[in-house]
Amino acid sequence: MPEPVKLVRIPTLKSVADFRKHIESLGLDLPCEDSIAVGSASPLTQPIDAVTVNGKKIGNRFAIQPMEGWDGTSTGGITDEVVRRWQRFGESGAKLIYGGEAMAVRPDGRANPNQLIINDENKSGLAKILTTLLDAHRQRCGSSTDLVIGFQLTHSGRFCKPNDKFRMEPRVAYRHPLLDPKFKVTSNEQVWTDEEIEALIQDYVHAAKIAADVGADFVDIKHCHGYLLHEFLSAYTRPGKYGGPFENRTRILREIIQAIRAGGNKIDIGIRLSAFDFVPFKPDAALSRPGKLGPGVPEDFSHCLPYCYAFGVNQNNPIEYDLTETFQFIDLCHQLGVKIVNLSAGSPYYNPHIQRPAIYPPSDGYQPPEDPVVGVARQINVVRQLKARAPKELVIVGTAYSYLQEYLPHVAQYTVRHGWTDIVGIGRMVLAYPEIFADAVSRGTVATKSICRTFSDCTTAPRNGMISGCYPLDKYYSAKPEFQKLKEVKKNVGA
Ligand SMILES: Cc1cc2nc3c(=O)[nH]c(=O)nc-3n(C[C@H](O)[C@H](O)[C@H](O)COP(=O)(O)O)c2cc1C
Ligand code: SF4
Repeated sequence: MPEPVKLVRIPTLKSVADFRKHIESLGLDLPCEDSIAVGSASPLTQPIDAVTVNGKKIGNRFAIQPMEGWDGTSTGGITDEVVRRWQRFGESGAKLIYGGEAMAVRPDGRANPNQLIINDENKSGLAKILTTLLDAHRQRCGSSTDLVIGFQLTHSGRFCKPNDKFRMEPRVAYRHPLLDPKFKVTSNEQVWTDEEIEALIQDYVHAAKIAADVGADFVDIKHCHGYLLHEFLSAYTRPGKYGGPFENRTRILREIIQAIRAGGNKIDIGIRLSAFDFVPFKPDAALSRPGKLGPGVPEDFSHCLPYCYAFGVNQNNPIEYDLTETFQFIDLCHQLGVKIVNLSAGSPYYNPHIQRPAIYPPSDGYQPPEDPVVGVARQINVVRQLKARAPKELVIVGTAYSYLQEYLPHVAQYTVRHGWTDIVGIGRMVLAYPEIFADAVSRGTVATKSICRTFSDCTTAPRNGMISGCYPLDKYYSAKPEFQKLKEVKKNVGA
């Protein structure tokens, strides 16, 4: 009978030497520096010189990754919670706010009924969160002339839940043998027609116009995590002009950018990309028990080989990546004048361990099939390969550092110093501890008690109809009645 992986928790590693020993025992290539450098001695405090976004240099090497909210109004407008989150992004000291949170370009493209919608009705609210962030940043850091802020534009495609937190209303790029049954895709009518795509492109154009009007420096045209435009990248089996060869699978992106420019909008553009993907994973039923689902194992893919249903995967063994088309896509981004490529991986819906490595999975998730630091190293090394080949005029942002915890600054310093990435982005860590980098580069230490331990409550809560937030570590959320409800949910997993 297979045994679950024995995991070493990061807080039990008391020094850089212990951390290194652990990394070595896993056979990983994940270097880290001996200590945290401060001030101008830190590579993380250096501006990006080679590229400007909206005429600005990005003032340092850390970014806040986009994090979807579940706390907007039912018409996609802002609330106090949204404003607070953006304020904290501003206070973090990061000079790149990469998207803030996914904003739907149309109401039916929301991943949850309380996601922000970027439309005329919500324009003043979007201006307000931007101003709040800028003010907070100026108060904490003095100047915002080197602060670059983007809005992430999305359509949630296969994962749409625009009207009811628990009802999927998927619209997909193509029929998928493994994902369709999981996400309630039952009819070809749920597949986008070529004619419908024309209207969708106009929604992106309009959203980009709103972003420019309210003062965002760039828009991210989201191509990651299994959402709609990411799915088009793997539409090998789709007939017509948006499926089949690479040129067709990237047509929507080209048409969106051309249409934005044709309307006279000069806003800069970023792309967040899942650089690679795997098949969906599921809990190993043999190792599941009440209160704890089993470790992740791949879904049976033997009947779908070659696996032409994911982007950046080895089609003969789809639990390995293949970056051939990812390199091609990055070249295309450069040709299209994209300024920033933010690299992520996989999808939180069907293979979260490769996307956001965590030691404690969300309530509906499988236990880690590998030490989570393996997932971190996989993303860091993929970004390294892509960065080595990427044109100099593209800013590359790397992801999935939060699981490194105490050693996040040490590894980030190494990867930036050695050009493995231009910028290090943080997601979950910022919900728990927005000032982690600011503390690191000013004091040379971080506050251990504030560190995100990847408890996944920020994912478990929305999966169970509650707003997202760092319930265990952010007192604003710990004080909410939802925290008790969340504890109940976690107690009853698998019962
Ligand atoms: C609660 C939550 C919401 C997220 N929402 C988004 C999103 O809207 N857009 C996006 O591109 N990534 C989203 N992500 C993924 C993060 O940006 C990031 O890639 C991921 O958490 C891994 O980085 P980390 O290890 O620093 O957390 C989300 C992650 C979390 C935990
Ligand atoms: S709930 Fe807090 S500690 Fe847990 S993963 Fe999210 S940010 Fe990290």
